[in-house]
Amino acid sequence: MGKGLPRQPAVLIWGLEMRELYEDLLRYAKEDIYPMHMPGHKRNQKVLAMDPAGWDITEIDGFDNLQAPDGILRDVESRIRDLCGSAASFLCVNGSSGSLLTAMKMCGKHGDVFLMARNCHKSVYHGCTAFGLRPVYLYPEWREKDGISGEIRPETVERGLVEHPESTFVLITSPTHDGVVSDIRAISDICHAHGIPLVVDEAHGAHFPFHPAFPETAIRLGADLVVHSIHKTLPALTQTSALHLGAHAAELGITPAKMKECINLLQTTSPSYVLMASVAECYRVLAERGEELFEAYAARLREFYAGCQDLRRVRVLPAEKERDPGKILISLKGTDLTGREATVYMREKFRLETEMDSGDLVLALTSVADTDEGFRRLLEAVHGLDRDVRLTGRTDTSIRLPKAEPVIWPEEAWNVPEEARVFVPREKLLGEISLEFVYLYPPGIPILAPGERVTGAVLEVMDKAEAERQVLKGMEREGGLYVKKS
Ligand SMILES: Cc1ncc(COP(=O)(O)O)c(C=O)c1O
Repeated sequence: MGKGLPRQPAVLIWGLEMRELYEDLLRYAKEDIYPMHMPGHKRNQKVLAMDPAGWDITEIDGFDNLQAPDGILRDVESRIRDLCGSAASFLCVNGSSGSLLTAMKMCGKHGDVFLMARNCHKSVYHGCTAFGLRPVYLYPEWREKDGISGEIRPETVERGLVEHPESTFVLITSPTHDGVVSDIRAISDICHAHGIPLVVDEAHGAHFPFHPAFPETAIRLGADLVVHSIHKTLPALTQTSALHLGAHAAELGITPAKMKECINLLQTTSPSYVLMASVAECYRVLAERGEELFEAYAARLREFYAGCQDLRRVRVLPAEKERDPGKILISLKGTDLTGREATVYMREKFRLETEMDSGDLVLALTSVADTDEGFRRLLEAVHGLDRDVRLTGRTDTSIRLPKAEPVIWPEEAWNVPEEARVFVPREKLLGEISLEFVYLYPPGIPILAPGERVTGAVLEVMDKAEAERQVLKGMEREGGLYVKKS
């Protein structure tokens, strides 16, 4: 196999030439590299030990069927519901991307307008295209001091609904990838006063229900549909997600029966028992030892933040009420290193792989499965950076989402026929209507989405990201984009 395949270019990271995935993963697993990124099980076999090939079955007798669970899988979903405080919870294996598509299908029909936070993950944009939904953007606040997007303010939602009373639902991301939460209680009250549901992409907050050190989950704050990426911050395998219904969802037509139908419409009929077992085990452990494990996690975080008090050049954003303390943001603002360079520094000097970097920030994603050793290494790495960087006063490195100029709806952009599409090189893109995405991954938030105009502000953000050696997804093809012929 693979004999006649062209050789892929070698990418040297961790000294591995990434060519044979299986072999490189085997070798990588043996390296002493600590993951400060998802998945939340952190490859910690003491928290989640599994035998993938040995457990990979299909819907044989005794093992239930996720399409209409009435046995062992129904019990898993009931446990998730009870632990998270929802009216009903559904296990999903198509990632949070799949769950978000399902939530959108549930709440809107073709041609419907809805309010959507512009900093949503690109899967939400996919939902607009796939289902012919028409987004009206809501913009998050900008936190100048920290160089990150902040909350979606309740007033912004209220204004959006007054200007667009035809909206059929609201969809926002809370927490953001950086951990910032919005005032879900106030926003859900506003949505309900307008008689429409609130969908919250809480992909990065599946751990919220388990300890008061973290923000309250949107499920308990009045949201009607809440998406959790179980694998992002809890000890379960990648691709696992949950869809939760809030207390008032049924009053808005989102009944458990209809929800299940909608999930079945979009989800594989062969959900992996390995993935489902990881979810079952995750919530079993949390039901039995959640308090103890989360107490220990909260204590590690407290100790970490206390250990950062003496930093002089590098800043660790403080734990605060409106931000998940588990997402540790290290700011290099004012120093001679960018977030990208700090990522490489931490990798090479401390054998730590982090979640994301952008502008002058590095994000270390922690979880309940992290060990004392992991936290020790992170603290040492932050102090190493603090010692080795030089102060330059540089402050212009934040990458801020540009204001979008939507011209045609996402579905219309998708349907532009071949003869009306033209490839335009980067230097001639200004003013064109893009038919493609441009984004950084992570976080997967479009800098430019299909149907939007390429403005000077968009090009500026793209230049800035590239100057920092970030890879602009969407621009790989000879540095240009397909646009709509004018
Ligand atoms: C906020 C947010 N929502 C949804 C998703 C999609 O999740 P998944 O990759 O599990 O499909 C992501 C992925 O990173 C995300 O960051």
